[in-house]
Amino acid sequence: MSEPRPTSTASAMPVADPMVPTPYEVVGRRQEGVDTVTLTLAPTGSALPTARPGQFFMLWAPGVGEVPISLGGTGSDGTIEETIRVVGAVSRALVGTAVGGTIGVRGPFGTAWDLEAASGRHVLFVAGGVGLVPLRPSIAEAVARADEFLGIGVVVGARTPADLLFGDLLADWGRSGVQVVTTVDRGDRAWHGHIGVVTEVLDLVDLDPAATTALVCGPEVMMRFTAQALEGLGVELSDVQLSLERNMKCAVGHCGHCQLGGGFVCLDGPVVSADRAAPLLRVRER
Ligand SMILES: Cc1cc2nc3c(=O)[nH]c(=O)nc-3n(C[C@H](O)[C@H](O)[C@H](O)COP(=O)(O)OP(=O)(O)OC[C@H]3O[C@@H](n4cnc5c(N)ncnc54)[C@H](O)[C@@H]3O)c2cc1C
Ligand code: FES
Repeated sequence: MSEPRPTSTASAMPVADPMVPTPYEVVGRRQEGVDTVTLTLAPTGSALPTARPGQFFMLWAPGVGEVPISLGGTGSDGTIEETIRVVGAVSRALVGTAVGGTIGVRGPFGTAWDLEAASGRHVLFVAGGVGLVPLRPSIAEAVARADEFLGIGVVVGARTPADLLFGDLLADWGRSGVQVVTTVDRGDRAWHGHIGVVTEVLDLVDLDPAATTALVCGPEVMMRFTAQALEGLGVELSDVQLSLERNMKCAVGHCGHCQLGGGFVCLDGPVVSADRAAPLLRVRER
């Protein structure tokens, strides 16, 4: 990943240029699983505009690079939460930033989950691995507005029990009436839950497919099969929202790095409806 244009990270002036990172201080750091950490970031000067669930920021580890990371949560004090899984150099540098350290943030960018589309209907969230991160603030919002929905379901898949994110939150949501189903690819001695992929447990959630809106995030292959399975259960593809992942550089539609079909994931996505995404999911990343 390339680095953004160098700029003074000491400035407390409002930043109008979407290519210029705004300095945020790491004020909290929480280990979430084997290789995943949640950072709480506070603006050192002017805060960026509030992001909506589903949108993403570009996080810059100075001297290493910049990558897209979804909004994980927003604090009432202007802080943002970002949950990052270590897969390479930039994610490792971000996760390794100590409390008190500085990260550059640009955004928010992209499209948001359309939770309003689920109003008066069942809302089903389906997450694979770190895909639970962008869904988390939307699930929290749905739980807070539970009486607006016929029912709420959350289906989460992970590689192993240790990779399941936000266990406490999943338990809280379950206690508040959400139908929570978890499954893992490989169990361990302590695991007595489901083993298998999310598509195998979708039908455990009690819902009316014709009155269901689904929000799905995970690896592309998981989203493709989940959309197919939901369609098989009777959910319209136009009622399924997916969050596409492509490598990004500018995040503002200039560099063409995230081009997919006739559009750019950074502008037209990441959240798109499955009927629009279906042909795109067959396009390999460059
Ligand atoms: C819109 C959007 C939102 C995202 N939100 C989050 C988020 O909230 N939390 C989070 O942890 N990640 C998120 N990602 C993924 C994150 O941007 C990548 O993991 C990151 O760019 C990897 O950069 P790197 O330099 O650490 O690793 P790289 O050196 O770029 O990659 C290292 C290895 O990991 C592989 N890899 C890269 N990206 C992924 C990926 N997404 N999944 C699986 N393997 C990958 C590469 O092919 C390579 O083999 C998001 C991506 C997009 C496009
Ligand atoms: S990241 Fe540059 S066009 Fe989307």
